[in-house]
Amino acid sequence: MRHAAVTYGAALAAMLAAGCGYTPPGKPNPADRPRTPAQITDFDFLFQQNCTGCHGDDGKFGPAPPLNDPIFLAIVPDAELLDVITNGRDGTPMPAFARRLEGPLEEDQIKIIAEGLKKHWKSSKLSEDKLPPYTVAAKDEATSTADTEAGKKVFARACASCHGDNGQGSSEGHKPGRINDPDLLSLMSNQTLRRIIITGRPDLGMPSFAEDDGRPGDYQPLTSEEIDALVALLASWRNQPRSGATVTLNVRK
Ligand code: HEC
Ligand code: HEC
Repeated sequence: MRHAAVTYGAALAAMLAAGCGYTPPGKPNPADRPRTPAQITDFDFLFQQNCTGCHGDDGKFGPAPPLNDPIFLAIVPDAELLDVITNGRDGTPMPAFARRLEGPLEEDQIKIIAEGLKKHWKSSKLSEDKLPPYTVAAKDEATSTADTEAGKKVFARACASCHGDNGQGSSEGHKPGRINDPDLLSLMSNQTLRRIIITGRPDLGMPSFAEDDGRPGDYQPLTSEEIDALVALLASWRNQPRSGATVTLNVRK
């Protein structure tokens, strides 16, 4: 099922307009966020009050990656959940929630949320051993040209049918849209790119690494190395010129 066109960038812009507490990457403004009273220990309430604005009601259909996703919950390490909620992700809209970082939550509330995600939404049917590992090889933005070249080949078989040969978006009237967009990619860490390629966005109609929907007939699931090569390719698109803005500088003496 394809959901109404919600792109990450557009949704983030809408969140900004609605003043939902989003602040630009790297500039947390914790004072704007509601304080959660320390005695509240109910997962549903904590999640609702602190997370749904970005991750969506029930952990799906938000502008940020879905947390209520069986593949994601099968592969994400518990320590990573605790770490990202405590400290946020630098350079992305994911804020730090720990009080000592001026966030709104106590340590034990963060623990209740981190553990609650798997308790509430993890499926017992999926086994981690059959899935690619969660952690991305290149955490930083820098990726090698060899990886980027390998990524292009994988992109052609696994992504181009929907996103266009170079990620420029489909020429057909309907979505999906452009993903070689520096403004979109600069809001997403390499870890999130890897995760999106593994899990897809079932809420928006993007298939997982293993599903052949909308892909060539002989499609085979992506390997872990192929996924990292794709991350390298998408990361390299962060550095291309902004859309429509070919800037020429005329320097006069
Ligand atoms: C202002 C928007 C915003 C809010 C509020 C927010 N998140 Fe996030 N979150 C994001 C974004 C954006 C990312 C992806 C960051 C990246 O690119 O690495 C993210 C990533 C994550 C991840 C890692 C997901 C992955 O695929 O690896 C977890 C876990 C997470 N958030 C949990 C939470 C929880 C729990 C809350 C509430 C306590 C919360 N977030 C609140 C925006 C938000
Ligand atoms: C069957 C079609 C299809 C295929 C194949 C596909 N995607 Fe997508 N992708 C989508 C849809 C639909 C969205 C939702 C956003 C939109 O509509 O533009 C999306 C969104 C994305 C996003 C933005 C994620 C977000 O959270 O907003 C990225 C990045 C992405 N795709 C990368 C890829 C990569 C890399 C591949 C190849 C491994 C791929 N996609 C294959 C349909 C597809």
